[in-house]
Amino acid sequence: MSISRLLLLPLFALLLSACSQEVPPPQSLAGVAAASDLCVIPELALDEHNDNPLFQPQTQTPLKALDPLLANVRARQTLSLNGDWNSIVDQLGVGDASPLLRGGVGENESYGPHELLEYSFKGQHTLQVPGDWNSQQESLFWYRGIVWYQKEFNYQPPAGKRVFLYFGGANFAKDVYVNGQLLARHKGGFTPFNTEVTDYLKAGKNAVVVKVDSMSGADEVPTEYNDWMNYGGITRDVMLVETPAAFVRNYKLQLAARNELTPNSSSQSSKGEQRIKGWVQLDGHKGEQSVTLNIAEAGIRKTFTTDASGRAEFEFDAKLGLWSPDDPKLYRVDWLSGDDQLSDDIGFRHIETQGEDILLNGEKIFLRGVAMHEESLLRHGRAATAADADAAIKKLKDLNANFVRLAHYPHNEHMVRAADRAGIMVWAEMPVYHNIQFSNPCTLASAKRQYSELIARDQNRAAVILWSLGNETPESEARNRFFIAMAEHVRTLDDTRPLTAALLGFGGMEDIGRYIGLLLAGEENALVGMLTSPEAPTITINDPLGDVVDVLGYNEYFGWYLSGILTQEMRKQGLDVSEDQVRELMLQEMEKFTIVTAFNKPLVISEFGAGAKQGKHGGPLEIWSEEYQARVYQQQLKMLRNSPALRGLSPWVLKDFRAPYRLNTDTQDYWNRKGLLSETGEEKMVFKELSDYYKALQQPRLEVAQP
Ligand code: GCU
Repeated sequence: MSISRLLLLPLFALLLSACSQEVPPPQSLAGVAAASDLCVIPELALDEHNDNPLFQPQTQTPLKALDPLLANVRARQTLSLNGDWNSIVDQLGVGDASPLLRGGVGENESYGPHELLEYSFKGQHTLQVPGDWNSQQESLFWYRGIVWYQKEFNYQPPAGKRVFLYFGGANFAKDVYVNGQLLARHKGGFTPFNTEVTDYLKAGKNAVVVKVDSMSGADEVPTEYNDWMNYGGITRDVMLVETPAAFVRNYKLQLAARNELTPNSSSQSSKGEQRIKGWVQLDGHKGEQSVTLNIAEAGIRKTFTTDASGRAEFEFDAKLGLWSPDDPKLYRVDWLSGDDQLSDDIGFRHIETQGEDILLNGEKIFLRGVAMHEESLLRHGRAATAADADAAIKKLKDLNANFVRLAHYPHNEHMVRAADRAGIMVWAEMPVYHNIQFSNPCTLASAKRQYSELIARDQNRAAVILWSLGNETPESEARNRFFIAMAEHVRTLDDTRPLTAALLGFGGMEDIGRYIGLLLAGEENALVGMLTSPEAPTITINDPLGDVVDVLGYNEYFGWYLSGILTQEMRKQGLDVSEDQVRELMLQEMEKFTIVTAFNKPLVISEFGAGAKQGKHGGPLEIWSEEYQARVYQQQLKMLRNSPALRGLSPWVLKDFRAPYRLNTDTQDYWNRKGLLSETGEEKMVFKELSDYYKALQQPRLEVAQP
């Protein structure tokens, strides 16, 4: 027996005696929360647990920082790396460099017949890219953890050119190896990143290995606890992007915010002239360099000279047709600089708020929308392709919608560009969802970085009209500070779009409870009924975030969650009521409720809804039936008529989506069933309810066709 073990023996004896000493007699266990309350676990024990001499992963540091994002990659010279990738599931996370695995899986070593190396991609396990692993293999459906991906490809690096490895997105934490070298590390499941690989590729066979860990962490954005499936993997396109030595890396080309313009300045002048404001950023330039912007259809050809950092800012007037849902006008835009030429399709429009109104190109609008998750309508799993986007757009058009809330995280670029072409206005959101570590500066830094990546990708999309800072976050000082910092960050990057957030809709619960309670008491006791005529409640949105954002989003589930919660509360108060009594009264009475805000700002009901299993039919009060779901919508739409500041709707949700939260294996079976469509895209009764409603709103009646 080794010395160290010998030395450890008395220590173990000590520990045992400490434990045995501290265990109180059984009857006093009340209040003992966990074993740790009984034993003081010495640090050493924790180190002993973590200290795995054979598989001790050595954390490696990427050779370089991530390169600034390349915009509009699909308009550049690219080589797709989509398709089958070899894969290794690394449940214990032992694949990094370690005594046993040498440089680790990322090194992608090949070995001879006399060498022992305990990892290999030769096992023919493959995963499709783009795609989540959960919907590709039954055995990986519930898998959350690490998977190593490998792609081998032949390549001839083009002379005099630079090459970047670009990922549209991969969930959640990634280490990217190119020919055995760790070049890039990125966190965030829903935004793109790229790394320059010019010096790391070779003529002939090359290999990219990506370690993907789908687990985020309590200090991350989002955390693991979300009401959606934590789909893991390389979920979006991967490509090599070739550029000239000096090239146009990114640019912003939008109309100047109207509040920036002096009354007599030219925007909106009678000639229909607009003020374009923007910048262009080169990469690889030597000192100042000229860049030409060409918008042939609008007769615009401008040449700018960048500063030494390769950036040129500009502002000029132009005669342009404006983008709108009725006329989603996109202009072909060409950037020319040195050997580089880059084209894009960009729409120009104004979007702003004025008091309780949302103005598009100076006109009041109403957002006829729906919320959706990034799940394909064409198969199970994450949406990732242009076909997925077109299928979603088709459903939005069938719904007579002009707006979509892409919840709760940035969706892929195909979806946003399809919305641009189709004239569907977009609410884009960062997954600051529920219980985030608001007072943790690293969490804020992660949210800011992810927002920078989203804006760098989508800032030129006319369809994107709202940046949402988050969803249903509990009120606290730390939360308020977090959102104020986020708002400042986003406004610094883009001042042409209003900010919003989906606020937690539990306001007015007490008033509603009292109102329903009194009505029930009145039903039970005529005298009470006679003496009390309760006034229908007014729910006032006064969350302090209302001061931070420009448009208030509000999630409320009257007719669904509230009745159940109210019934429990009333029973605790000794009222002998049944849930169907409360639910029936709630549904009847909610059309008298009024939602108002404490802010002179537009209101969008960013969520309301009810669950239904497609094909399940029943009485108007039968939970999970299509009839019940449709009834909730009917009553909601009547109720929302009362809200003076209402300027938009995005009911929850376009399609039933995977949600591990949902444990009712009878009706939900790990699906959130609030979709207007089933998980396979079948329309439920409520789809027609809403599409008819939106059709009616389109009929030219009022100035702003409100409900
Ligand atoms: C919340 C939340 C959604 C969730 C929905 C629901 O409001 O924002 O992510 O799926 O309610 O409960 O169905």
